[in-house]
Amino acid sequence: LAQADTFKIGLILPMTGQQATTGRQIEAAARLYMAQNGTTVAGKKIELIVKDDTSLPDVTKRLAQELVVNDKVNVLAGMGITPSAMATAPIATQSKTPLVVMAAATSSITQASPYIVRTSFTLPQASVALADWVPKNGIKKVVTLVSDYGPGLDAEKYFKERFIFNGGEVTESLRVPLRNPDFAPFLQKVRDAKPDALFVFVPSGAGAAVMKQFLERGMDKAGIKLIGTGDITDDDQLNDMGDGALGVVTSHHYSAAHPSAMNKAFVEAFEKANKGLRPNFMAVGGYDGMHVIYDALKATKGQGGGDALLAAMKGQLFESPRGKIFIDAQTRDIVQDIYLRKVEKKNGGLYNVEFDVIKDVKDPGKNK
Ligand code: DHB
Repeated sequence: LAQADTFKIGLILPMTGQQATTGRQIEAAARLYMAQNGTTVAGKKIELIVKDDTSLPDVTKRLAQELVVNDKVNVLAGMGITPSAMATAPIATQSKTPLVVMAAATSSITQASPYIVRTSFTLPQASVALADWVPKNGIKKVVTLVSDYGPGLDAEKYFKERFIFNGGEVTESLRVPLRNPDFAPFLQKVRDAKPDALFVFVPSGAGAAVMKQFLERGMDKAGIKLIGTGDITDDDQLNDMGDGALGVVTSHHYSAAHPSAMNKAFVEAFEKANKGLRPNFMAVGGYDGMHVIYDALKATKGQGGGDALLAAMKGQLFESPRGKIFIDAQTRDIVQDIYLRKVEKKNGGLYNVEFDVIKDVKDPGKNK
């Protein structure tokens, strides 16, 4: 097909390495979206080009450069971790190519380029809701444990500020490296400190290791509750974490158990297309990112360049499997409901069952 008849999406994801589950989930969701919505939009044939950045930001940047210069992609998308999004931001700006961030979740990412639009979430958005719930539920002393980079520092800061404002006490803040983390010495410290709860942020894919070591040390039996953003009870891994995960309370924007008709259809179709793999919050970020791209292409009737596409992405409002979402035209960041959830057994499997909701949450990081 001639260049003029195709619309190319350069989807850069970690398909191998520590963040591989993120890539697997988002690619599967993007392909599901295309299967359900067709591959011809506004007279253009959609071409999805998937590249593996192994979650190394230098590689993400090089791949983005190649996709823009050689493949002449119309849109860049993906971004499994914050450093990848940050490294790619200048390329989006220089080439005037919209960059749809589907996974990375540090608040400041959308400020790194005016061409960035986000369909994932932000850690401040997810953390504040939990910091309001926790002190009302008998938890007064907390130790925080986060991955030592953008989203972890956001989670630590926004949880802590709000929890202290609400009368809570953070006795210690621990940070563990992103690459090859060893949680054991940190968890031992927490066991000795004996707080009411341990607040954890680790990126998608690392939650099961934290849960396993938390339980192996008998920290739950010692009366320490595990709490965190929903990254820890990641739907990609939750069902294999065992009954020790029952009762863990988290806050997040998506659960595979979200009880809407749209989500039930989404989960069923995703599992069917992927040998029973359950979609997680990364999948929904990818699925909705494709929706944003398709709608922008439709709105510009296939005639627009990067600036026109970007303008058509701003202000989009639609129903997602997670609930209603909105792309704030000013910040280009996502506004969405945040849910409090508890791990429960449902139909024989472990799920994050939603029990409360805070409607239309904007990224608190943008108010500063
Ligand atoms: C980021 C990555 C994750 O896997 C996650 O769950 C949250 C944030 C990030 O790097 O921004």
